[in-house]
Amino acid sequence: MDAQSWWVQGVDVTKPSPARVYDVHLGGSHNFQVDRDLAEKAAALMPSLPTVLRANRSFLRRVVRHLAGRGVRQFLDLGSGIPTVGNVHEIAQQANPQCRVVYVDSDLVAVAHSHAILRGNDRAIAVRADFRDADYVLGHREVRSMLDFDEPIAVLFFAVLHFVPDDDDPIGIVSRYVRSLPSGSYLAISHACSDDITESTRQAAQLYSERIGGFHMRPKRQIAAMFSDVELVEPGLVDLTEWRPDSHEVPPGGKPWTGPGGVGRKK
Ligand SMILES: C[S@@+](CC[C@H](N)C(=O)[O-])C[C@H]1O[C@@H](n2cnc3c(N)ncnc32)[C@H](O)[C@@H]1O
Repeated sequence: MDAQSWWVQGVDVTKPSPARVYDVHLGGSHNFQVDRDLAEKAAALMPSLPTVLRANRSFLRRVVRHLAGRGVRQFLDLGSGIPTVGNVHEIAQQANPQCRVVYVDSDLVAVAHSHAILRGNDRAIAVRADFRDADYVLGHREVRSMLDFDEPIAVLFFAVLHFVPDDDDPIGIVSRYVRSLPSGSYLAISHACSDDITESTRQAAQLYSERIGGFHMRPKRQIAAMFSDVELVEPGLVDLTEWRPDSHEVPPGGKPWTGPGGVGRKK
């Protein structure tokens, strides 16, 4: 896809965006110089950052595959990002073509590119919204027409809740979504963790926070509290690479510390 086909009117090319900086780290091409500059500075402080973000994508793929394998047919992906290799609808619909997926993101480029790749797919849509406004997302006409709230839904918060400040009550936001789902639904979260981080990782997080307007690493106990309305499935809230890994091989240089992720089931 060339630059013209995803460039969207209204995008501020002077300010880095979380979606586009993440795209840089994943080796994507939907980003601007301002995003590449921030990604480079952050990776200089935290050289494992691109590996950590790839571990997050790999966690996402394993979770969706696992849930589709357990019969989940509906996915609500909040803060879905710029589509890259192995998106939720691709994994879910590969497991079962009947799976339906709603992507929600506030970023113009993320939503425009999602619309472009979803053309012709009548079981997946992308909606531009701020997921903190759960009532808006849950009441959105397109969301309601794609997802049946009487059937189990997996609500996915992959690498997004650390953009939500404490004042906006991230635990309450998660709870609002989970409460709207029927029993047998699932919640999946990955979240940057502030436990045991090095000084240079703290500096990388601070740089992100200053440039993109808020990045909130949290202790694992606060991330665990986001699962209070569900029952964690095995192996619980663990380092992303430890969550049902495809292989137990240790990559050259050792496993990076990635922060926790988990999946819970609503009883
Ligand atoms: C690091 S990316 C993660 C993308 C994807 N979930 C993944 O794990 O690969 C974070 C995404 O969350 C989106 N985001 C952050 N805060 C948001 C909000 N309040 N509402 C909607 N999207 C948000 C950003 O635009 C960005 O696309």
